[in-house]
Amino acid sequence: MPRRRPPNIRRVAINTGGGDAPGLNAVIRAVVLSGLNHGWEIVGIRDGYNGIFRPQEYPDGGLVPLTRTRVRGITHLGGTIIGTTNRGNPLHYPTAMPDGTMKEVDRTDDLVEGLKEHEIDAVVAIGGDGSLTIANALAKKGVRIVGVPKTIDNDLSKTVVTFGFDTAVSFATECLDRLHSTAEAHRRVMVVEVMGRYAGWIALNAGVSGTADAILIPEIPFDLHAVATKVRRRAGAGRNFAIVVVAEGAKPRGGRRSVLEKRLGAAERLGGIGERVSVALGQMTGRETRHVVLGHLLRGGTPTAFDRLLSLRFGSAAVRALAEGRTGVMVALDPPTVRYVPLAQATERMKTVPLDCDTILTARELGICLGD
Ligand code: F6P
Repeated sequence: MPRRRPPNIRRVAINTGGGDAPGLNAVIRAVVLSGLNHGWEIVGIRDGYNGIFRPQEYPDGGLVPLTRTRVRGITHLGGTIIGTTNRGNPLHYPTAMPDGTMKEVDRTDDLVEGLKEHEIDAVVAIGGDGSLTIANALAKKGVRIVGVPKTIDNDLSKTVVTFGFDTAVSFATECLDRLHSTAEAHRRVMVVEVMGRYAGWIALNAGVSGTADAILIPEIPFDLHAVATKVRRRAGAGRNFAIVVVAEGAKPRGGRRSVLEKRLGAAERLGGIGERVSVALGQMTGRETRHVVLGHLLRGGTPTAFDRLLSLRFGSAAVRALAEGRTGVMVALDPPTVRYVPLAQATERMKTVPLDCDTILTARELGICLGD
């Protein structure tokens, strides 16, 4: 193994990018406290990289000094104290052209310059696939950078789990528990749409834990006749209600995903499939249906103990990585330990639900309809 030399670090910046996830503040706290132990100064870049691109918009110039006092009492708080954004990706930055049109432009060179101007020696980038792809591009341009995998969607490969996912699944499960009683009281079919983008992890894990009757995930294009049959069979057995969980990225067999909005410099916004499924199931079964969109509720609130601990471990590990002279890596959970994987590998493939995984098998063996 090549020996790494401890780098000459004086100032480290933290960046939180993309949709927020419970546990972000715990990571920030761990990076700050561990970094202070090395004598480093830690700052937070406001709202993704906006603090560097548009410093004039912030009274503090776009960089938040992160002292011991500033990170006191934040481990259990949702959100991020330095702000985030899932718009304005530096690799595809929406820019006005001379002819008045808008075009996506790679602005990572400006970002590298901005980091230099602020005398930032290293960056801890906390984010999902978008933010970690940006981190990888910065690493290639010589920025000393370590990534921390964040997303409620759990769609990052190379880590067993991302922080935020456990909280999202726990809350969705609690919602399913609550919906059971009202569904039964009214003899309704309740369709619950959950986030997760193109991966069905939240829908599957919450659906199985919350004893849903049907779970529709992007990995298995669905046939609603199968779900309607399940609803009818339950009714035939005296169970006059049903709970159907639908991932926002699920799509009918031969059909399309439900997209709410396509945006310049940002990922498409998914949503609406819950309502479509609810209306169609009502027509097919003659039953009264209702749909609920859990949406951003899954991203808010207090992180579970699992997510807090994982976030604190990830934050400390990121600082250890920098102190050991590593760069261009992401911290990853590989139980019982946290290890480092190259950012290039961490972002090359989206982690979707394998169709032969044991949770899918469990769902089938429990009689849960997966829409196929
Ligand atoms: O990636 C996290 C996530 O919450 C996805 O599950 C969802 O599709 C997306 O972000 C929603 O983004 P926005 O905050 O722009 O609505």
